[in-house]
Amino acid sequence: MTKSQKTATLTVHGETYELPVFSPTVGPDVIDIRKLYGQAGVFTYDPGFTSTASCDSTITYIDGEKGELLHRGYPIDQLAAKSHYLEVCYLLLYGELPSAAQLEEFETTITRHTMIHEQMHYFFRGFRRDSHPMATMVGVVGAMSAFYHDSTDVSDERQREIASHRLIAKMPTIAAMAYKYSVGQPFVYPRNDLDYAANFLHMCFAVPAEEYHVDPILARAMDRIFTLHADHEQNASTSTVRLASSSGANPFACIAAGIACLWGPAHGGANQACLEMLKEIGTVDRIPEYIARAKDKNDPFRLMGFGHRVYKNMDPRATVMKQSADEVLDLLGIDNNPLLQVAKELEKIALHDDYFIEKKLFPNVDFYSGIILEAMGFPTSMFTPIFAVSRTVGWVSQWKEQLADPQHKIGRPRQLYLGETMRDYVDIENR
Ligand code: SDX
Repeated sequence: MTKSQKTATLTVHGETYELPVFSPTVGPDVIDIRKLYGQAGVFTYDPGFTSTASCDSTITYIDGEKGELLHRGYPIDQLAAKSHYLEVCYLLLYGELPSAAQLEEFETTITRHTMIHEQMHYFFRGFRRDSHPMATMVGVVGAMSAFYHDSTDVSDERQREIASHRLIAKMPTIAAMAYKYSVGQPFVYPRNDLDYAANFLHMCFAVPAEEYHVDPILARAMDRIFTLHADHEQNASTSTVRLASSSGANPFACIAAGIACLWGPAHGGANQACLEMLKEIGTVDRIPEYIARAKDKNDPFRLMGFGHRVYKNMDPRATVMKQSADEVLDLLGIDNNPLLQVAKELEKIALHDDYFIEKKLFPNVDFYSGIILEAMGFPTSMFTPIFAVSRTVGWVSQWKEQLADPQHKIGRPRQLYLGETMRDYVDIENR
């Protein structure tokens, strides 16, 4: 990080302090408070980290006001239109778009890591068939920490790279196996003649009884969904992975922690919750009732798929996802899908409602993805596992970046303590 030329002045308890201010490549300046407690004896207070930068990074940048998302400087709409998921994985991992030879080598490496250790198949049998696939994924990905000992030395750059490749390659296999287990069908092994997205669809929907041909338009839509969810700065699950790995923990266990965090309905679980909400609304004429509930302070109901901590404009991923939804549903001949009608009408109403305008609540990435995934034949319980497959590259890229930083240290936030001051123990007979 460059030596700061600018400072911020803070006066607290009658004393004045000069704090360094650092400027980013693009975006807001940051005030360096690392020495604040040592100098002034005070903490800063920011539950939810709404105004706190937890690290520096060169991977992804979001401009919430403009609704822009850059991966290593490339806008997401250009990557969604011109690139594909494994090329975006290379970009996020290594910082530059690959040459043809580099891309071919990377795709071959990932393809050849897609199988999981045969012994791991037994873990699935320990789960109830009706387990949520995210529960299965947390368990099985965590169990990878008991298998791949030759890629768990986080101080070794080559082992970090192999762990990254294994996670990107095996996540679709594990997600597909979780789905197959939940529907009582046999596992389908990965195939090296299929590309990443087509392989995932094949592992999910092929059965031994007949040939399964992957529709190239559905494979393209699947690849685009993977591309749109790949990374997103220091979101809750990525921050979880960074904090878990700051202690030097096993990489596979850290990614399992990220999956656990992503599962929540306020984060990656929103795509499942959004589709369930659209089904509950059911018809366009019931939308005003739900808009009113979302605005009612006494009602905990929120419009799933709307709002974002950073975007105060349209999530650029939602815009691309909406185009894909139209293409997929048109292909499948269900362009009059009632859920899509409700979604489009809900979006139109919400974008013109004063409450949503005032609070800058726009559709986010989860708003349209569920509609596409349902149209492709996935149950709602598979929506977040698919998000996890895609976000694995973001997690491992941010994890690698943190471990490669010689300045990185264990994350250990402080608190505003509001509990009891010191008091003596009271024997039970005196209570
Ligand atoms: C993802 O961080 C990331 O980058 C995440 C993600 C990624 O790629 O990693 O983009 C993926 O998680 C997208 C978000 C998916 N979640 C949802 O769609 C769930 C519904 N959205 C909300 O839960 C909410 O908008 C959050 C959690 C996404 C953001 O919440 P914030 O920033 O903490 O904002 P807030 O909860 O403080 O809300 C601000 C105001 C509140 O009203 P007031 O208290 O100020 O009066 O807006 C209201 C909220 O009540 N509000 C909503 C709303 N979201 C916020 N009101 C109705 N419906 C909503 N969806």
